[in-house]
Amino acid sequence: MHLLENPIRSEDLLVKTFNIKHRFYASSAEPLSHKELIEATKRNGDHHLIELFNDHSLGYAENGGSLDLREEIATLYDESISAENIVVFPGAQTAMTITTLALLHQGDHAIIITPSYQSLEEGVKYAGGSVTRIALSPANAWQVDLEAVEAAIKDNTKYLVFNDPHNPTGALMSEDIKRKLVALAEQHDILIFSDEVYRLLELNPADRSASIAEMTKKGIALGTMAKPWGAGGASIGWVVCQDKNIIEKIRNGQHLFAVCFSRAGEIQAMMVIRASDQIIAKNMKIIKENLALLDDFFKEYGDLFEWIAPQAGGTGFVKFKGSLCADELAEELLEQGILVFPPYVFDCGDDLKQYFRIGFSRKTMPAALLAFKEFIDQRRAQWGAFVP
Ligand SMILES: Cc1ncc(COP(=O)(O)O)c(C=O)c1O
Repeated sequence: MHLLENPIRSEDLLVKTFNIKHRFYASSAEPLSHKELIEATKRNGDHHLIELFNDHSLGYAENGGSLDLREEIATLYDESISAENIVVFPGAQTAMTITTLALLHQGDHAIIITPSYQSLEEGVKYAGGSVTRIALSPANAWQVDLEAVEAAIKDNTKYLVFNDPHNPTGALMSEDIKRKLVALAEQHDILIFSDEVYRLLELNPADRSASIAEMTKKGIALGTMAKPWGAGGASIGWVVCQDKNIIEKIRNGQHLFAVCFSRAGEIQAMMVIRASDQIIAKNMKIIKENLALLDDFFKEYGDLFEWIAPQAGGTGFVKFKGSLCADELAEELLEQGILVFPPYVFDCGDDLKQYFRIGFSRKTMPAALLAFKEFIDQRRAQWGAFVP
């Protein structure tokens, strides 16, 4: 398929609604301002980074990412990871696509756990590969069906793709399932691409399992400034892998397609990582306060909605039990200036047609929830019989 014939499923929503009143779908943490970042950096005593920022070159940054940033990113992982195991990109979306193009060949097969962020799948198709999707199910608490993965493996399967912590459900993959997937991948010589962009936003940090890049040499982990720290504007994402040959291929891909990225962004990213504890603590406070409001709401409105409490990240997938499907509900909400992500954004199968994504990582969420509640109170009488 030609690139321009391939619709971006969330494009219409996001373009039409750039100025929408209630962004009840948002997934990334509360946006950080540069001013806040400088204050946090001063509190940390990292004055050298402020000097570096004020006097940096606007020439190209080092191919693959500057060494100082890669060293800083390595501190987010265990001792199996150092600067040479990391490639920096302008954001995670670019990173996932170029990595996939660099590693897959025409005719390769990939297994992808869905619902998923659309771009995770597209790179496989443009590399000339085929995809088998394996859908998560609420009946299984959004955990991967290992038997289905094993049954989907073919002779040409080269890639297993998943997102953990998971957008949209907010579920965390159990450590046991992750280890079994690693064993399966090692046995069949399959690379694992694990989108870990919501890592560090676990409600209970004890639930955080090892990064895939720490667990297996053939694991590639993805990170971004955008999600846990709300610093998408720094435009920095990265991939991590222990295998130097894989890193070399990815670095070549980056050189070919994304050589121009911002040194200013790199320095901001270093400031963010060094102030990570402060920034994450602030963001988790917002998330936990919002989740308490959502828990109360869904208890009160349990006749209309089913809520599986998320374990991590900034999003949850809610079941609507009214007589409309969730795509229709989202359309009606949009008319009222409230944006949630309907299931078509995730190309969901029939069994997930009643589910829609909400986001709870922003300070604006309580106002969005209030507007949502008013809308539901006005409409509930018209919706008739509920889906069992
Ligand atoms: C699961 C997932 N992966 C990757 C991305 C893209 O990250 P970035 O904004 O750094 O390109 C997103 C953004 O919504 C996402 O939800």
